[in-house]
Amino acid sequence: MPGAVTKPTARWWEPFLALTGELRLITTENDYQNIMQLTSCHMGPRLGPMTDAVNLWSSEQHAAQYLVRADTIPHRVAGETARLEWIPRRPVRVLDLGSGDGRLLSAVVGARGAVDAVALDFSPTMLARLRARFAGHTNVSVVAHDMETPLPAALGTFDTIVSSFAIHHLPHRRKRMLYEEIFERLMPGGVFCNLEHVASATPALHRLFLAQLDVRPEDEDPSNKLLDVHEQLMWLREIGFVDVDCHWKWRELALLSGRRADAT
Ligand SMILES: C[S@@+](CC[C@H](N)C(=O)[O-])C[C@H]1O[C@@H](n2cnc3c(N)ncnc32)[C@H](O)[C@@H]1O
Repeated sequence: MPGAVTKPTARWWEPFLALTGELRLITTENDYQNIMQLTSCHMGPRLGPMTDAVNLWSSEQHAAQYLVRADTIPHRVAGETARLEWIPRRPVRVLDLGSGDGRLLSAVVGARGAVDAVALDFSPTMLARLRARFAGHTNVSVVAHDMETPLPAALGTFDTIVSSFAIHHLPHRRKRMLYEEIFERLMPGGVFCNLEHVASATPALHRLFLAQLDVRPEDEDPSNKLLDVHEQLMWLREIGFVDVDCHWKWRELALLSGRRADAT
């Protein structure tokens, strides 16, 4: 998300595996810079380098910086309001993927009553925020899980699966697999609603988007792996979702939704 800007500091790159002709552990910032240059392919328009290998969201600093700026993202509230229209009036079980501090899940539970809800994230900072926010809410469980790996079977099924500005941190291949897993987790008639950061059509439009957010191109979050709306809608249809559409969009922020057909 462009609202979370973390300058590479300390030795955070060490855990990242990346492709440099051979598979090996990145050990220096130089390695990191080389890999960023080498792997900036097949992503949406981007002014700086982008790589599948980087996801800074497990860093406390990265998560904390986002939370400070989360409310300042332009038109965010309009997207969130539009999203609520696509969430069932009386959801039974809701899953929020990449919950952050739980702002979306809180809004859903607040608007729709005491549904059984699961907040999922992998950032220790966000998980601590989630546990604090939902302490005493017996209907909300907090699950630590890295979405780079398949959703845990123990999650069960849901009539509503939501996500907000999170799935674009996964490599494209994993995004598609996750969409398939989401479909499998939806009960017949269930809804998937993803308020997402998507790719601009051109580098010039991407530059304008960053300017709107007051983010310098060199400060763009290297965890972003942006993909255009069209490709994602096609995937959802191919997977079997029905009523797939982009219901709201402002520049790189888009509300994508589809549902699993009712049982026949
Ligand atoms: C831009 S924040 C959005 C948070 C929240 N959904 C919101 O709208 O404020 C991205 C969230 O995705 C989570 N995230 C990123 N990569 C993830 C991964 N591989 N597995 C689980 N969560 C991830 C981050 O920890 C963070 O909470």
